[in-house]
Amino acid sequence: MPGIRGPSDYSQEPPRHPSLKINSKEPFNSEPPRSALVSSYVTPVDMFYKRNHGPIPIVDDIESYRVSITGLLPKSIMLSMDDIKKLPKYNVTATLQCAGNRRTAMSKKRTVKGVGWDVSAIGNAIWGGAKLADVIELAGICKNTTSTSLGGKHVEFVSVDMCKEENGGPYKASIPLRHATNPEADVLLAYEMNGEILNRDHGYPLRGIVPGIIGARSVKWLDSINIIAEECQGFFMQRDYKMFPPSVDWDNIIWSTRRPQMDFPVQCAICSLEDEAIASQDKIKISGYAASGGGRGIERVDISVDGGKTWLEASRHQKRDAPYIADDINSDKWAWVLFEAQVDVPKNAEIIAKAVIEIWCD
Ligand code: MTE
Repeated sequence: MPGIRGPSDYSQEPPRHPSLKINSKEPFNSEPPRSALVSSYVTPVDMFYKRNHGPIPIVDDIESYRVSITGLLPKSIMLSMDDIKKLPKYNVTATLQCAGNRRTAMSKKRTVKGVGWDVSAIGNAIWGGAKLADVIELAGICKNTTSTSLGGKHVEFVSVDMCKEENGGPYKASIPLRHATNPEADVLLAYEMNGEILNRDHGYPLRGIVPGIIGARSVKWLDSINIIAEECQGFFMQRDYKMFPPSVDWDNIIWSTRRPQMDFPVQCAICSLEDEAIASQDKIKISGYAASGGGRGIERVDISVDGGKTWLEASRHQKRDAPYIADDINSDKWAWVLFEAQVDVPKNAEIIAKAVIEIWCD
């Protein structure tokens, strides 16, 4: 791991914004107040949630930093940051969301293990970097490849941070090779966030960004990218971030019966009613975010003030000055949609928001 290392303690953590709500200090896991999410379409870096499983890595020497591309491919290569920056640069606006977002609310139904998140383990950023499909091509694998001649079918990202779930080993995760080599999937090796060099918390100097897929697969502080036959066998692919039916609990769980979670589901959250003084007025503005994995556009957001008996449609936007049209070429397909509605609130109102996607068959 030239140039970068994962420390074994938390004595050299970066500074963070004081208004972040800290859900766990070591490792550092924090989310912004709900109001910060709806105040801008692109989430400022310091207000972006931070999700870590170990101490933040340290880059000792960026000149000697290399990421290796190795495994079941024609030729292994090592790339410096200059090599990556020589490839065409793409800016992709994409929403990153932790699969554990909203765990606190889920735990009200049934206890869920893991860091307790409110609704803000999500953010929308402009990620700048090279397409993974271009990087992998440098190692001799063509675009839109499902399997290499040596039987490689998955792309594993390996970091340098020391995670207790991996017994002190690094965080790792994989995506299918056909996804990684599809230029339209916009998978990036990102070195910028919102036009600035990635900061330490978010993966400096290089991270994967896999749009439309749970944040756990967007590995930070990359050390190596391995072409492998089976999906990654790491903890976060095999013993976490999987979905089970209600009949399964911690006593009878068999992890191998489910595949690792990839696309995140369609959902929305109200972010404007944190302040109870606002919530007690007669007419109020309701705003929040709606997002769907897999690049599926948000067709509608509906609001109900009577617990779901009647509904009205909220307005949706991404950029403030342009109307949002789901699946339109000018919309950011990987990004969230913010919504707003002015509603009359009856006594004993029960306010619900619901996002709708449409799936088109060509
Ligand atoms: N990459 C490494 N190396 N270590 C991690 O702990 N956490 C993952 C992912 N990549 C993680 C990682 C998870 S679960 C999420 S949700 C996102 O990073 C969070 O990215 P962020 O902290 O930049 O918001």
